[in-house]
Amino acid sequence: ATGVERAVDAFADGDPVLVHDAADREGEVDLIYPAEAVAPDDVARLRNDAGGLVCVALGSEAADAFDLPFLADELDHPAADHGHLGYDDRSSFSLPVNHRDTFTGITDADRALTISELGRAAADPDSVDFAETFRAPGHVHVLRAAPSLADRLGHTELGVALADEAGVAPAAVVCEMLDDETGDARSVADAKAYADRHDLVYVEGSELVAALAE
Ligand code: 5RP
Ligand code: CA
Ligand code: ZN
Ligand code: ZN
Repeated sequence: ATGVERAVDAFADGDPVLVHDAADREGEVDLIYPAEAVAPDDVARLRNDAGGLVCVALGSEAADAFDLPFLADELDHPAADHGHLGYDDRSSFSLPVNHRDTFTGITDADRALTISELGRAAADPDSVDFAETFRAPGHVHVLRAAPSLADRLGHTELGVALADEAGVAPAAVVCEMLDDETGDARSVADAKAYADRHDLVYVEGSELVAALAE
């Protein structure tokens, strides 16, 4: 099977994959899981082994159904005004949320509840009252995917494209793999070695785009 096929199969099984966006973009490898399947030990792996920011990417239709904005459009402060990303036109950040049944929102159990319930909500957006189910601000950053890979090529869109292809809810938890020694993004070679050690699939964003973009 190709790397893309193995990544899609992993996602369908609720298993994580490692995705490198592109050397001429962030040049980051994110650890990405289908959101619905996430349990507390998966959150532990995200914060211990990945170490970046834990975010849930939602498909644009689900984000629309929940009336989730781009955060940059909502912030009434000059820091949000323009041009802060060197590598992209716009940040995919929407609201940071907690499920309403969490306490502090940050524990592995609390974040797993928020993440998996975002997945469940995305599976059937019309059945969910988002504001009754989640509160903002919270401890899980929601990201809004662009409508397709033709519009934007971030981990946000790559994660949602994997979910769509795997036939799971259009919600993926993403977190950057950082190097514990240097604090920089983990190199591709290092991320591949991590994938091999843990029997995980590593895939290039360009391979996903070639196989999945419509
Ligand atoms: C949030 C980010 C990450 O890079 C994440 O992968 C989502 O962003 P993008 O879609 O721009 O790659 O910055 O921690
Ligand atoms: Ca670590
Ligand atoms: Zn990214
Ligand atoms: Zn990043």
